[in-house]
Amino acid sequence: MSENSTDAPRDPSGGPREETLTRSRGGGDILLSCQNLTKEFSVAGSKITAVDDVSLEFPETSVLAVVGESGSGKSTLARMLLRLMPATSGTITYRGQDVTHLHGRGLREYWTEVQAVFQDPFASYNQFFTVGSLLRRGHSLAKVPADEADALIAECLGYVDMTPKETLHKFPHQLSGGQRQRVMVARALMMRPKVLLADEATSMLDATLRVNVLNVLHDLKNELGMTILFITHDIGQACYLADRVAVMEQGRVVERGTTEEVIFSPQADYTKRLLSDVPDLRGSLKS
Ligand SMILES: Nc1ncnc2c1ncn2[C@@H]1O[C@H](COP(=O)(O)OP(=O)(O)O)[C@@H](O)[C@H]1O
Ligand SMILES: [Mg+2]
Repeated sequence: MSENSTDAPRDPSGGPREETLTRSRGGGDILLSCQNLTKEFSVAGSKITAVDDVSLEFPETSVLAVVGESGSGKSTLARMLLRLMPATSGTITYRGQDVTHLHGRGLREYWTEVQAVFQDPFASYNQFFTVGSLLRRGHSLAKVPADEADALIAECLGYVDMTPKETLHKFPHQLSGGQRQRVMVARALMMRPKVLLADEATSMLDATLRVNVLNVLHDLKNELGMTILFITHDIGQACYLADRVAVMEQGRVVERGTTEEVIFSPQADYTKRLLSDVPDLRGSLKS
């Protein structure tokens, strides 16, 4: 792997070299993909196939939505793509490189390029930290020299329509749900990722704040050229934001296509049922 990678230092011990991500690999617009990805869990002696032979492609500078009801395997798929959970079988490819078993330095590089935002943004953070200290901790992860940190924070807050002045001195509970979620997007952007994975990131927001965050994600694609994987149980949100939609049912992808194809000529009964719950999707397509 990475035979042509020249930026990786040789292991002085002469042992096997850690794999590194090969940057600037040309040829093809597909940034991230998975092939036949499967995850089985054993629960109380029986086997659950949470993700069942899923193959998806994420073209550069696009939004792909994965939509399906609760329990359809979306988060398990996300965890595997993020390399937070091993796959039972199948492969994950990033920039043409098999990253399924990447480890060490290569995996750490992967984790800077593929960032995630989840549903409950501050659940895992100490509520006594200000937003400023939360973002600076993010900055130390990004290995940016300290004197560049404030500029980077301001830049990334700018991408989500926030300013340091109105944000940094506040505690999480002093922000609205939409502001908190935008802070988490800003924090992810500080790593300068290529891919942003949002797993139900807008699910807990009320309608107005949700549209606001969806529009921020839309602008990130256009302005930063990002690739966004948007995971939701809500086909309305999926169709509002995404260029392409994949529909998951019981671990399998049962429908995939451009957003227009999925809205105007759904093939799977499951997709038709999801669509029937959303009254006026045709008018909500984002241009
Ligand atoms: N760690 C786990 N151990 C056992 N079963 C799990 C685990 N994580 C998820 N599952 C099961 O896998 C299926 C898919 O779950 P999940 O990926 O969370 O779906 P979704 O995100 O679409 O709601 C569910 O049946 C869930 O109970
Ligand atoms: Mg989930």
